[in-house]
Amino acid sequence: MIKRYTLPLLLLFSITTVLSAQSVPAWYNAGHEAKVDSLISVMTLQEKVGQMTLFTSDWVKTGPTLREGYQADIKAGKCGAIFNAHTVDYNRKLQELAVNGTRLGIPLIFGYDVIHGYRTIFPIPLGETASFNPEAARESAAIAAKESAAAGLHWTFAPMVDIARDPRWGRVMEGAGEDVYLSSVMAAARVKGFQGDDLRDPTTVLACAKHFAAYGAGQAGRDYHTVDISERVLEEIYLPPFKATLDAGVATFMTSFNELDGIPASGSHKLLTEILRDRWGFMGFVVTDYTSINEMVPHGVVADEADAGIMAANAGVDMDMQGAVFYNHLADQVKKGEVAMDQVDEAVRRVLRMKYAAGLFDDPYAYFNNERQETSILTDEHRAAARRIGRESLVLLKNENDVLPLAKSEKKILLTGPLADSKADMLGAWHGDGRAADCVTLLTGMQAVMADAKQLTYVKEVDQALAQAADADVIVVAAGEKWFESGEAASRTDINLPRGQEDMIRQLAATGKPVVVVLFNGRPLTLTGIDSTASAIVEAWYPGTEAGNAVADVLFGAYNPAGKLPMTFPRSVGQVPIFYSMKNTGRPKLDETGKYVSKYIDESNLPLYPFGYGLSYTSFSYGAPTLSGQELNRNDTLTVTVTVSNTGGVDGHEVVQLYLKDHVGSVTRPVRELKAFQRVLLRAGETQNITFKLTSQDLSFHRRDRTFGSEPGRFTVFIGGSSTTENGAEFSLNSPSLKR
Ligand code: GLC
Repeated sequence: MIKRYTLPLLLLFSITTVLSAQSVPAWYNAGHEAKVDSLISVMTLQEKVGQMTLFTSDWVKTGPTLREGYQADIKAGKCGAIFNAHTVDYNRKLQELAVNGTRLGIPLIFGYDVIHGYRTIFPIPLGETASFNPEAARESAAIAAKESAAAGLHWTFAPMVDIARDPRWGRVMEGAGEDVYLSSVMAAARVKGFQGDDLRDPTTVLACAKHFAAYGAGQAGRDYHTVDISERVLEEIYLPPFKATLDAGVATFMTSFNELDGIPASGSHKLLTEILRDRWGFMGFVVTDYTSINEMVPHGVVADEADAGIMAANAGVDMDMQGAVFYNHLADQVKKGEVAMDQVDEAVRRVLRMKYAAGLFDDPYAYFNNERQETSILTDEHRAAARRIGRESLVLLKNENDVLPLAKSEKKILLTGPLADSKADMLGAWHGDGRAADCVTLLTGMQAVMADAKQLTYVKEVDQALAQAADADVIVVAAGEKWFESGEAASRTDINLPRGQEDMIRQLAATGKPVVVVLFNGRPLTLTGIDSTASAIVEAWYPGTEAGNAVADVLFGAYNPAGKLPMTFPRSVGQVPIFYSMKNTGRPKLDETGKYVSKYIDESNLPLYPFGYGLSYTSFSYGAPTLSGQELNRNDTLTVTVTVSNTGGVDGHEVVQLYLKDHVGSVTRPVRELKAFQRVLLRAGETQNITFKLTSQDLSFHRRDRTFGSEPGRFTVFIGGSSTTENGAEFSLNSPSLKR
């Protein structure tokens, strides 16, 4: 019999446990809390501010400012974290300054932008997302973690999880594209890959969900620009991938440069405390983006950096990246009562908690092992993974008359184009310690697989190519953007192929020879011009270190391409923003006759290539979806089955995509939304039954009353190989009527 007075305590405990169990990540160790508290209790205010300060080394420059004296700051206990420093010897030297040179010996944490590989570079994240293979994303992140940890790094500023629907923005290359569900799945996979099962494992690194939040919604696709979106769009579109990283146990978050509803993210109490901590229960720490606290002054929301520091600290920022604002002002502001010591202690607690979780106090030098550094980086195994994931990321956009795959014994192949033999451009932006010298170009990759190298002629200039065309059976053109024409601070107003490449392709096609275009680019481009002239188009993104081998595997059929577009490719930049899950509007364009409908008078409403689209060297057919019932009750599961057949002559993967259309909601709903996908291998002639399970959770959204949930009504489930599939079946959700 439980004594009367204990019951409430037990009840309280069980409730607390249940509530906290929702957001306690695997890395959390309650046994560390006492150590953290004990350390905080003996720290001076200056030492606390030091733990809230992150400086860049002068090894790599990733932002507008560099500052001297970071080593002296480490020794003075004024800097608890360093980024852009790597290699074992260099980081060990800096760690010794902190552990041996400061009063308390609190270890440094070392961070770096390991976005799609450390030294072995994988496809840019947008390209890797085209594989629709979360396991590939996890694997490449795990390899990136292993290599960067071997180089003395504890923390990567990845994954970038900003939903991106404007290809003018250069940073679309860094995320997972336009779709909430796909981005959430890939974000969680990348966190799992970076962090593994134990943050103390010296082959894992802390991940960082960035840029919180809605950085991809900048006006006009211009980097760092104003973000002005509704509360509903924030909740429905931009927050879910961040929540997915938190549910996957992400250790840190990074604030974004942009304002949101008039408040810069680095000063947003709503984002950093009300949503991230109070609602989601995040237990890691928040670092700002590069000098983004300082930038609240030009944003015009504070008069000076001191005020910016107060706003950031009180909003819930735990660490100031490179701004030296906490460094210069926070101690005085605490003394003046402008920032509470409790607020500082809580920030320091979060930082120290992560340092304990990463094992830094157990052994500050655990990540500095020269032998591991020698044997873990750019290994054959890692290169093989980069080649495999590289070819899975390729998207076959066009293949007229099955001009691809090329036969290895093809009589004469003419290769040309500005990117055919460019090592550096295979890496893409944010390539960490990736080196051009390591890269395999398309020329090298093709030479390696062709039976007789004399069958391949390579010329760089278009006039030489035109002169050689007559003697060729097929022309391969490597076109696209230079690696630095996407990424940070690389927005474009014109997303055509640059520098006359479209005209080059047109001239080559005019020779009458089939032209295969291989694109290396970091964003959707407007390819309307080449779509009508090229015989085949392969979207290769930036495949990384093994680029040429990955592309050659696809061109010559060693691998049957299965990539699908993670972002819509417009016909014209004037259509932007354009994405598959738009609203129907009150005057949808149904055909070519209506005048007063939502349309352009000079362009189609349709993209050139839609989200989820990609061809194969084989073909697939779908049966109509069959449902386990016509009605779904709130707590039931609806089983959706579809037969998929490989109707062609070669084995191939197909990304079977499931979209839902909610016909009527208490607020307008997208014309359809991706809710599930399965990447399946079908042998030539094989048919498989593919099954999905739907619950009312899949039908949930932010309703008119701003609660999150589903509503009764009619739905259509579409299943196919692209977002344009009309292969559908209807069902209805039954449940008690809800407020409209
Ligand atoms: C940059 C980027 C951010 C990166 C940071 C450190 O400005 O916005 O993504 O992690 O600075 O390099």
